[in-house]
Amino acid sequence: MPRKKLVAGNWKMNTTLPEAKALAEAVAKGVGTGPAADVVVCPPFPWLVPVSEVLKGSAVGLGAQDVHNEAKGAFTGEVSTGMLKEAGCKYVVIGHSERRHILGESDVTVHLKVHSAVEAGLTVILCVGETLVERERNLTERVFQRQVYSALAGLTDDQWHRVVIAYEPVWAIGTGKTATPEQAQQAHLFIRTKIRALHGENIAGSLPILYGGSVTPETAAGLFSQPDVDGGLVGGASLKADQFLAIVKAAG
Ligand code: 13P
Repeated sequence: MPRKKLVAGNWKMNTTLPEAKALAEAVAKGVGTGPAADVVVCPPFPWLVPVSEVLKGSAVGLGAQDVHNEAKGAFTGEVSTGMLKEAGCKYVVIGHSERRHILGESDVTVHLKVHSAVEAGLTVILCVGETLVERERNLTERVFQRQVYSALAGLTDDQWHRVVIAYEPVWAIGTGKTATPEQAQQAHLFIRTKIRALHGENIAGSLPILYGGSVTPETAAGLFSQPDVDGGLVGGASLKADQFLAIVKAAG
């Protein structure tokens, strides 16, 4: 069965509450019922509940941008999987490069978060990707192996079906330097081939692998036409409903 495409908007630390509600409303209206691709928006934590109310009855799913691995307790400032589910989330982004590189999140932390999230029944959008220095030193594949294997080691077959991988080359995020469709395809194929070798076709063949990093309405169609690019994780362009909807259309 062909994989259904997925387009997720990562709003990062942007939007006021009225902006968030208006954006969600415009996306829900523009997507309509029965879109050809799955569509998800990931607002900042405080806007999850109000945005979830706006999205009620729509075809747009709700995701969070991060989660803590513990279920509850003395973890000031953190948010649990249970809280995300009560807020209406079905998805959670884990291991975004901004968290790895700016906030110092380690592979071990990412592993713990991924396991807590899939155990709670959330679908994880696991971000992986190399920096420019790593690419220039030909370390891209080694980075994938480390980030992908360490995060996903030990998942059951059922849990694998709640995993989406987002390949986000760090040099392409927020820089306007989109990877070429060929660069994205090569990276995605490498990841899928390694996962196939370890876990078989059932898991590798159904695993959605998204591309992220300066996706725009202009670059989306070329990227999404690649056989192993199953959609996108969109930052800047997801903050403008018309641009985000044009990207969703390119995935249809
Ligand atoms: P941009 O689309 O702004 O480059 O951000 C990509 C990203 O980090 C999505 O998670």
